[in-house]
Amino acid sequence: MKRLLIFVTVLIFLSGMTACSIQNREPGSDSEANTDTAADSASAAEGGSKVGQFDLKKKTVLLNSGYEMPIIGLGTWTLNDEEAENSVYSALKTGMRLIDTARYYGNEKGVGRGLQRAVDDGIVTREEVFITTKIYGGDHERAKGIINDALKDLNVDYIDLLLIHQPGADDEGVYKAMEEAVHDGRLRSIGISNYYTRAQVDEVLSFASITPAVIQNENHIFYQNKELQEYVKQYGIVIESWYPFGGRGHTAENFNHDTITKTARDHNVTSAQAILRWQIQDGYIVIPGSSNAEHIAENYDIFDFELSEEEIQQIREIDIQRRYENW
Ligand SMILES: NC(=O)c1ccc[n+]([C@@H]2O[C@H](COP(=O)([O-])OP(=O)(O)OC[C@H]3O[C@@H](n4cnc5c(N)ncnc54)[C@H](OP(=O)(O)O)[C@@H]3O)[C@@H](O)[C@H]2O)c1
Repeated sequence: MKRLLIFVTVLIFLSGMTACSIQNREPGSDSEANTDTAADSASAAEGGSKVGQFDLKKKTVLLNSGYEMPIIGLGTWTLNDEEAENSVYSALKTGMRLIDTARYYGNEKGVGRGLQRAVDDGIVTREEVFITTKIYGGDHERAKGIINDALKDLNVDYIDLLLIHQPGADDEGVYKAMEEAVHDGRLRSIGISNYYTRAQVDEVLSFASITPAVIQNENHIFYQNKELQEYVKQYGIVIESWYPFGGRGHTAENFNHDTITKTARDHNVTSAQAILRWQIQDGYIVIPGSSNAEHIAENYDIFDFELSEEEIQQIREIDIQRRYENW
């Protein structure tokens, strides 16, 4: 009996070591093997899902950090604290489990309040919700403080995913501060946003000791960066789309595109739903922004229809490499 106990203890210790090694992989080197390690250790717990593969039943993707991330959630850009609180609450009530905010949006307190309200009302537990925020600018020292400020404003004791909001003067210093926060448990996964080229990603990989889990970029029917998506697959990095509808002021031209209206009609869904379904079937995590509870519910209601390969291809062909923003 005593021997059995020692054996089990050693086994638990070894599996803990494996989990740590997922967080500490060398970028670029042996990435396939590393990805396999992450997938293997996760598959025992998650029933076989692999890093980067979307599970449309569970509505999640397994990140290279070993954590599961929901593939659709709520974006909160332009929402003030009160709107963010209400939208987050609506999103969680409707079943969404991913919330996207940023220091720059100035609404982390509202997001935190929405989350707390949903927890207090028994809708979710903190652990069931995946919170992303972003750090804007700074250097190593400043970044340490910014992470603590984000935790305080969100009123949480860890953040699921922190992204560098856009390339800056001291990305290496900021990224190091993020890695330190992963090691001490304040962050779970880390990534980057607004890095569009291989060269930009390679630069981050050159100094990262934790491979970014996610790249959040502008990505919609008129701008699809398939090449980057293909390139970063080898690192187990997943692309997350911002402006899935083209952003405020541009939604009509996205919703009214002939291919989108036809696809929507054929499936008896709205244009918004057709676009979001294409995004998740084509391997993009998506975070439509909304301050409207009905829109939020509609955006999450995309799991009982499926686009064919041909329809996915037709939407890919809309791409004209046109971005709305230049950051
Ligand atoms: N990393 C970055 O640099 C970056 C940059 C931009 C955005 N983001 C993130 O990405 C998220 C998404 O981008 P976004 O919010 O700017 O733009 P978006 O999601 O492309 O579009 C938002 C617009 O779509 C409308 N909308 C939402 N659902 C709808 C539906 N079912 N039917 C009709 N209209 C609908 C919203 O209006 P209602 O409010 O009336 O629903 C709003 O006007 C942001 O919220 C933010 O979290 C990140």
